Amino acid sequence: MKPKVVVYKRMNEQVLNKIREMCDVSYFPAYKEDYPAFLAALKEAEGVLGAGLKFDTALLDQAPKLKIICNTSVGYDNLDIPLLKERGILATNTPGVLNDTVADAIVALMLSAARRVTELDQFVKTGGWSEQGFLQQQFGVDVHHKTLGIIGMGGIGTTLAKRAYFGFDMHVLYHNRSRNEQAEHTYNAVYCTMDELLEQSDFVCVMTPLTAQTEKLISKREFAKMKKTAIFVNAARGKVVDEAALIEALQSNVILAAGLDVFEKEPTGQNNPLLCMPNVVTLPHIGSATAETRMKMAQLGADNLVAGVHGKRPLTPIY
Ligand code: 8YV
Repeated sequence: MKPKVVVYKRMNEQVLNKIREMCDVSYFPAYKEDYPAFLAALKEAEGVLGAGLKFDTALLDQAPKLKIICNTSVGYDNLDIPLLKERGILATNTPGVLNDTVADAIVALMLSAARRVTELDQFVKTGGWSEQGFLQQQFGVDVHHKTLGIIGMGGIGTTLAKRAYFGFDMHVLYHNRSRNEQAEHTYNAVYCTMDELLEQSDFVCVMTPLTAQTEKLISKREFAKMKKTAIFVNAARGKVVDEAALIEALQSNVILAAGLDVFEKEPTGQNNPLLCMPNVVTLPHIGSATAETRMKMAQLGADNLVAGVHGKRPLTPIY
């Protein structure tokens, strides 16, 4: 008998069929709409594959046979690791395979915010571009040769540092729990305190995972430390930033602009003041969302799941 597994969230058909060769799959592309059936399947499941669902005590109590939870994401703030360890449940994520794609998305946010791409795109498309050309007030600011501060120098941060250093001649500062020798040696990245980074950076990019320690890490005090010309980029998790403080910092010109892939609440509501600001570039949490990378993430997640439910060590365990 094949082990029973639950796949929640939309999954590539090819990858899904691969899992089906080895497991008895209950598939819930929109599990919220089908929650009773999802819970019924979870009761029998030995493994789960998906992203973002919070596995708290109440939900784990509904899944007594669970051996492994596989995230198709590098972030695992949806998982309570001490609780999973206590229950002897393994957990995996998908590190590495998305580094280049997310770093590209961050560069896109940096360039868009600095060169006012979305704002000027609207200017052209709404007929604002006249014979007079455009105004000096519409000039952007340079990215190249500026200072980039990376808060959280893991795989994605290091991949961003590479682009910044080799592609844009940027000076890279970073703050992290531990020193990153690769980034220091290869990309001349300079380790500094949080305050030094905030004070000296032209671009402040937050890349830390969301934990109890990093929740609202960037708040009013941190924005006040930044340069008035600073461009703030968040492609980590919305809750790493105090969104009300970010709104206030942008409204009162404490910083110049922002590029955001993530929000405190997702999807963010249409009444979020950030959506009305021309100096804010937004994306709907799509840092890793290219066809190629999402395929790699799905494949890695599936390989982890199949290994885990067959009693083998998964490829990328969190612990
Ligand atoms: C997506 C991410 O949220 O990997 C992460 O941590 O934030 C993103 O790649 C996720 O994978 C959605 O499926």
